[in-house]
Amino acid sequence: MSPADEEKRIAAEAAAELVEDGMTVGLGTGSTVAHLLPAIARRGLSGIRCVATSIATEEQARELGVPVEEFSKLERLDIAIDGTDQVTPDGWLIKGGGGAHLREKIVAAAAERFIVISDSSKPVDSLTSPVPLELFAFGLRATLARLGDEVKLRDVPRSPDDGVIADYLGEVGDPAVLAARLESDPGIAAHGLFPPDMVSEVLMGTGSAVDRFSLS
Ligand code: A5P
Repeated sequence: MSPADEEKRIAAEAAAELVEDGMTVGLGTGSTVAHLLPAIARRGLSGIRCVATSIATEEQARELGVPVEEFSKLERLDIAIDGTDQVTPDGWLIKGGGGAHLREKIVAAAAERFIVISDSSKPVDSLTSPVPLELFAFGLRATLARLGDEVKLRDVPRSPDDGVIADYLGEVGDPAVLAARLESDPGIAAHGLFPPDMVSEVLMGTGSAVDRFSLS
């Protein structure tokens, strides 16, 4: 296992310890979450109910015997655990490198506690593009014309919600300002900027230790 992978593993295992019997749990997506799922499975918890943010996570969870159900059945989640692409000292994230940011944000927003797990390559002083986007397929050409050269389609399949994955490649600057700008365009279903008030805690593998940063 590479040193970065080892850091992901120890962060994910620390996060798995936060899950308790009977909890409703949101499962993120990506290579860090790939270490979380076996760690949750090994705990042998009873009565947990999980929702997955991607088909890949759902399939891996089911193979490991972690129960996954449709998110239409649950009103709220006790905890959600997910990776990140970037995290700033004040807790802003960029997510969506794997194109799962729409479901990841819906799951994070429904969770009492949103726990971010990362290796030591993810902290940044300030966020930089690309910022992943999910665009509505309806009116796509008009949306792209409005967004201009700063937005490029990603050559990947549509999302499970039939969204078109793209990236904003311009300056990020103040992430709150960019987030508001992206949210004001009706053709954008979701963007990968996650604000600090969504994040409860960051568990970061650093060498052989897990550093913890509490936010909200
Ligand atoms: C998926 O769309 C992403 O938001 C991932 O959660 C993020 O890219 C972190 O992925 P890794 O754990 O693979 O670094």
